[in-house]
Amino acid sequence: MKKTLKCAIVGIGFIGKQHYEAIRRCPNTEVVSIVDYKEERGRSFASQYGIASSYTSLEDMLNEQEVDVVHICTPNNLHYSMAKTVIEHGVHVFCEKPLSLTAKESEELVRLTNKYNVKHGVNLNYRSNAMVREMRSRVINNHAEDLLMVHANYIQDWLMFDDDYDWHFDPELVGPSRTVADIGSHVFDTVQFISNQKIKRVFAKLLTVYPTRKKREQFGETFALTYGENFEEVEIVNEDGAMIIAELESGVSVSINLSQVTGGHKNAFDVTFSHSNYSMSWNQERADRLVIGKRNEGNEELYADAKYLSDDVKRFISLPNGHAVGWADAIKNSIYEFYLSLEDDTLVDSVVTFEDGHYLMKIVEACLLSNIENRWVDVE
Ligand SMILES: NC(=O)c1ccc[n+]([C@@H]2O[C@H](COP(=O)([O-])OP(=O)(O)OC[C@H]3O[C@@H](n4cnc5c(N)ncnc54)[C@H](O)[C@@H]3O)[C@@H](O)[C@H]2O)c1
Repeated sequence: MKKTLKCAIVGIGFIGKQHYEAIRRCPNTEVVSIVDYKEERGRSFASQYGIASSYTSLEDMLNEQEVDVVHICTPNNLHYSMAKTVIEHGVHVFCEKPLSLTAKESEELVRLTNKYNVKHGVNLNYRSNAMVREMRSRVINNHAEDLLMVHANYIQDWLMFDDDYDWHFDPELVGPSRTVADIGSHVFDTVQFISNQKIKRVFAKLLTVYPTRKKREQFGETFALTYGENFEEVEIVNEDGAMIIAELESGVSVSINLSQVTGGHKNAFDVTFSHSNYSMSWNQERADRLVIGKRNEGNEELYADAKYLSDDVKRFISLPNGHAVGWADAIKNSIYEFYLSLEDDTLVDSVVTFEDGHYLMKIVEACLLSNIENRWVDVE
């Protein structure tokens, strides 16, 4: 990058901190401001890391600071209004997923980015893992022959007890979908990216395991909550899991299992592409490995290392094999790729644009409708 990029992060909870670390790993960047409505949280983070300013209001920060990019890392309900504010200030925007609560909102954001001519990205970080890139490269370069089917699972346990409760259960904050929008959007993006095809229709069954949950006084951020003694019983209106069949443009079928209530499975996202010459399997908890499954000879386990992978993937690897690259490296790649795309239009296929984020919202809404009407729904 030609000049030092000045960045601000809004929301310094679980994922905001990861953005900060990732930005610091990108050359020619400086985080100049933190915005968090919890004043002390923002201020103490800024002072700990030597960040020049902290604010409780995004608008104030934009009016007083010169920034090139704003990272939006707040709960889902704020993505639309905050992205709109950033765009209207003529500043580039990098937003956490899901892009919005509804496809209507995301459509409006796409319109605004065109009107104000700013760059836009959504953090669907798994596509920036080196081995996911290798899978796509093999598909695009025809090393993996005809695609027969795709299987994907994203299984977690952080919400498995009936007293696990945070903003993700409040439809005002999370939107009409929880699990499908939260982790399903990662699966949809990864499958579309590897296959280089869009998901065109879905049949979804959504599952809610507890009709009510105990909402207690709580402290902390996602994955690090502690709870008080007293609770109220709250009705649950969004899903803990989903079983989805999807179809790609070519008609190839994709089977997707999602759960946030399955004990012992932490962040277990795996995806298998079955091709006519071999299969490719990737598991994000062993993110530096790609298993090439063979029929008549032994399987191959590729380690992430520049010398084993395709030329167009090498830039996603920063360590030699055995020094396992993983989740945090993919976030760094996701952010750095976006920064590079600010000056290089050829990278637009590499980043998740607001158009892509909008299409993901349409897939989420198609799943919700399919579940209600018990039928296939086209993504339009
Ligand atoms: N890409 C990923 O893998 C990934 C992982 C986790 C979360 N996320 C996404 O990131 C977003 C945030 O999730 P999280 O887990 O970090 O939540 P969190 O609750 O840990 O953090 C949210 C932060 O936003 C702050 N905040 C809330 N309202 C605000 C406001 N009005 N102004 C400024 N700050 C405000 C909170 O104080 C908190 O610090 C969600 O949309 C989630 O879907 C993405």
